[in-house]
Amino acid sequence: MSPGIYCAEALQNDVFKTLSQVAQKLDLECYVIGGYVRDYLLKRSGSKDIDIVAVGDGIALAQALAAALPGCSEVSVFKNYGTAMLQYQDMTLEFVGARKESYAQHSRNPKVSPGSLSDDQNRRDFTINALALSLDPNNWGALLDPFKGMEHLSDQKLITPLDPQITFSDDPLRMMRAIRFATQLGFTIDEKAWQSIKDQASRIKIIAPERIVDEINKILATPKPSIGLALMYEAGLLDMILPELTALLGVEEIEGQKHKDNFWHTLEVVDNISLTTDKLWLRWAALLHDIGKAPTKRFDPKIGWTFHGHEFLGGKMVHKLFKRLHMPLNEKVKYVQKLVAMSSRPIIIAEDFVTDSAVRRLVFDASDDLEDLMTLCEADITTKNAKKQKRYLQNFATVRQKIVEVEQRDHLRNFQPPIDGAEIMKTFGIGPSPFIGQIKESIKEAILEGEIPNEKEAAHALMIKKGISLGLTPIHITL
Ligand code: CTP
Repeated sequence: MSPGIYCAEALQNDVFKTLSQVAQKLDLECYVIGGYVRDYLLKRSGSKDIDIVAVGDGIALAQALAAALPGCSEVSVFKNYGTAMLQYQDMTLEFVGARKESYAQHSRNPKVSPGSLSDDQNRRDFTINALALSLDPNNWGALLDPFKGMEHLSDQKLITPLDPQITFSDDPLRMMRAIRFATQLGFTIDEKAWQSIKDQASRIKIIAPERIVDEINKILATPKPSIGLALMYEAGLLDMILPELTALLGVEEIEGQKHKDNFWHTLEVVDNISLTTDKLWLRWAALLHDIGKAPTKRFDPKIGWTFHGHEFLGGKMVHKLFKRLHMPLNEKVKYVQKLVAMSSRPIIIAEDFVTDSAVRRLVFDASDDLEDLMTLCEADITTKNAKKQKRYLQNFATVRQKIVEVEQRDHLRNFQPPIDGAEIMKTFGIGPSPFIGQIKESIKEAILEGEIPNEKEAAHALMIKKGISLGLTPIHITL
């Protein structure tokens, strides 16, 4: 214990007082532990997740608190894990009974049994997460720090309470947590712990993908995700979790022609985009925008390195990757796929003379995601050639200007065709048939090409013309 350190200020909410009273009635000790204590000491904005460890029955403690404190939610009990959870105000409280592990002489499998606070602290991931605050009224707010957690907080070090081989082997997700905390807090992973992560990286395979993705999401939510992504790579974890990314590593040279290293480029793009957006799925799109480049890479002696169709293939790969990692297969994956598949469109427009029709098609295809696509494409500029960078940015500014003009004039976002199928059928006295689709398509194409404005009258005239060219006869003309 660190003598003399008290953090009563962290325990001002009435929930802690009631908890303490309830624990006394049940005749058990209880402590606040983990992220809440760590973040309080780091002065990080107040964590709303509060972990409580009881020396005794954690579930009974949660139930007693819920009964004594008006406004508490029902208690969710996870019997298999011996844990319970409840909500109070904007906080989530998680309860666990302190446990220890003992090894039977001839068995490699630990037996988990009730233990003391320090037994429980032993079993935690990092010394900075093993800090506990007492809720005993005679020792209110005392900081219990058996592993120099305070010292490691001020040295900004991630160190395991036990031999790291044991800590990481107990729960291999902790390897990801180490990297996530290093990225979030700017801490250094202790050398022995780092070596152990590298030794055990392959054990990440036994962890549920959802838990791994949670950690990746937290890395992606930091101001500089490349820190964590690079550590994942160096540890050998990235290769097992996102091999599509490590496949982008390396620079090849043939006949004096090189391509850029698309892995390190991707990391730069993710950092760039993190300066301009907090949207998690847009950051994912940045992370995956080039994954189609590894399988499409070719060398053509006439034009050099090519990655033809990488955006399209990349979009398909996104779906497989989301599925493998049990990520949401709803509008989120569609959004990421769409951005990946369209990720080269604005730059292609910007590199050339910026035509109205190209911009119109971009607005039409990207629709509500146009702003995000432009953000991605601007983040994609990682050239170190100042002249080139200036030129690209200027061209993007031109694209943006044209977008505004085209939008004001043509209203193409969430495009609704000015003529619908019912009107085509009525005009030509026909029932449902492929003609409807052909006529609608030619109207849409003419609008996108700028041949006619996005207006009813012009579209109507084109419908008649196109219908006649298809051998139809207008019998009912209303306009
Ligand atoms: N813990 C652990 N091993 C894990 C996960 C959690 O030892 N694989 C312990 C740590 O003591 C941790 C506490 O359980 O502090 C609570 O875990 P959790 O709520 O997942 O994380 P926090 O540390 O609170 O941090 P954050 O909220 O940033 O995830």
